[in-house]
This record gives sequence, structure tokens and C-alpha cells, in this order.
Amino acid sequence: MTHPFNLTGKVALVTGGAQGLGRMIVEGLLSAGATVVFTSRKTDVCEAAAAEMADLGHCIPLAADLSSPEAAVDLAARVREVAGDKLHILVNNAGKTWGAPVEGFPDKGWPGVMMVNVQAPFTLLRELLPELAAAGTPDDPSRVINIGSVAGKSTQGLSAYSYSASKAAIHMLSRDLAGDLADRNITVNAVLPGYFPTNMTAHMRDEEAVDPALLAKIPLRRMGRADEIAGIIVFLSSRAGGYITGAEIPVDGGIVGCS
Ligand SMILES: NC(=O)c1ccc[n+]([C@@H]2O[C@H](COP(=O)([O-])OP(=O)(O)OC[C@H]3O[C@@H](n4cnc5c(N)ncnc54)[C@H](OP(=O)(O)O)[C@@H]3O)[C@@H](O)[C@H]2O)c1
Repeated sequence: MTHPFNLTGKVALVTGGAQGLGRMIVEGLLSAGATVVFTSRKTDVCEAAAAEMADLGHCIPLAADLSSPEAAVDLAARVREVAGDKLHILVNNAGKTWGAPVEGFPDKGWPGVMMVNVQAPFTLLRELLPELAAAGTPDDPSRVINIGSVAGKSTQGLSAYSYSASKAAIHMLSRDLAGDLADRNITVNAVLPGYFPTNMTAHMRDEEAVDPALLAKIPLRRMGRADEIAGIIVFLSSRAGGYITGAEIPVDGGIVGCS
């Protein structure tokens, strides 16, 4: 019997995989044996990341700016070209935020955030349904994992109004799709990170220390680590995670569970 987390022979797509949480996820999937197609908006960033990760396994960089549904349709077509007619794992990780006090929160702070965080994941999944359905079996379904956020589950006081609304939306979208796609052998789950050290949270820390006010909100009193986000994605993608669908899984040092 192979190790329950072994992903040898699986093909994954991770959006926004060149840096931040997405990079941690790509590295985890590669280390578990998967072939990973990943995106970044810039070709040079994407290719540099692929070169840096080449020792971990087979990764394929694709440049994609998911600011429109057409871009998501185009990405799906290019994924099909490089990955063939089966896609075992789709991780919708790319995300965008906007923060401003409520009085000055601009209308332009909404459409881009909703597009990248909600609509693009839906369009990608819709376009890649044939490949996901072809890869899944009753015993070993295909996996769709949408990266949500604790901000879509509990009040974080970030003044990131469109962001938290978009994350609540992707959580519910994941559950809706989980119900609708179960009989096509596709699971859909949402993973809700708490606070991890990436560009998105750069304003909450410096080289030396994390903002004490932030740590006070986290029961385990620290930010998350790369292996903690990669680990949940590998688990959900693996044989061990095949019986979970429609779940919202916080990886957050206790923010959601302890409140
Ligand atoms: N860090 C945290 O503590 C935290 C907490 C909860 C949830 N999350 C979620 O985790 C995911 C990754 O965020 P992160 O923390 O790693 O932040 P990040 O470092 O800012 O990364 C954002 C990612 O999204 C991609 N992206 C942004 N706009 C895009 C667009 N228009 N088209 C395509 N890709 C785009 C970026 O790709 P490029 O390479 O092109 O920049 C990058 O890979 C997001 O969904 C975020 O909401 C993060």
C-alpha cells in the first residue's frame, strides 16, 4: 500500500502559485509527487519560480491574469494543452484584497476583488469540468480546493469589505458546488487560512516581529507556517482526504474554532 498522502501520477493546477501561499502549496504538492501546473500574472516571475522549484518535481508555469472571465476560459484551454484530458486537483488560490475605511471605500474596490476571488474560480472550474470528471472515480474523486479566509467567517476588523464578502462567497460557492458535483466524483472544499507571512499580510509585521495586536487575536499566538498550509492541501488532495467534501476547514491557529 502506498503512503496515504502520496500524489504520484496526479496532475494539479494551482492559481497564483509563484509566490506566497500558492508557492507553499505548489512546493507541497510537488514534494508529494504530483505534476503541478501553476500561474502567475508575469511570465518572467512564473518561469523563475518554476526554475527554483525544478528540483522538487515536474512543474509547468503558465502566465495568467485572472481579471476577467475570458482570461479564466483562456487559462483552462492552455491547461488542457499542457496537462491533457485529466486534471486531478484544482487549487483556486489566487486572491486580491482592498482595504480602506468605510467612508472612503471606493466602488472600484469591488469588481476586481470579486472577479479574482469568486468568479474566476467558478469559471475555471466550469471550464475544467470535463477534465476533472475524467480524472475522478468513486474511490478516488477529483479535488477542487478553494482558498477562502478566516475573514470570510469571522469579523477581523481589517476594513477589507469586498475581500471578506468575497471570501464568504467562495465558502458558500464551494458548498453549493460540492453538493452538485458529488455524483461526478469531484469533491469541493474551502480552506480558510488565518494569518500567514506573505505579501498580503506584510503590513502586519516587519523582519523582526509580528504586530502584537494581531498575535493577541490568534489563540496559538503565532502566524501559520508553509508546511501547515501545504499539509492541508496535500491531505485533501490525497487518498486520505477523499471522503471530505463541502467542508470549510480553518487553518488559523484557532481564530474560528475558539471564538
Ligand atoms: N496570507 C494570509 O495570511 C492569507 C489569509 C487568508 C487567506 N489568504 C488567501 O490566500 C491566497 C494567497 O494569498 P497570499 O497570502 O499568498 O497573498 P499574495 O502573496 O499577495 O499572493 C496573491 C496571489 O494571487 C495572485 N493574483 C493576485 N491578483 C491576481 C490576478 N488578477 N490574476 C491572477 N493572479 C492574481 C498573485 O499572483 P502574482 O504572482 O501574479 O502576483 C499571487 O500569487 C489568497 O486567496 C488570499 O486571499 C491569505
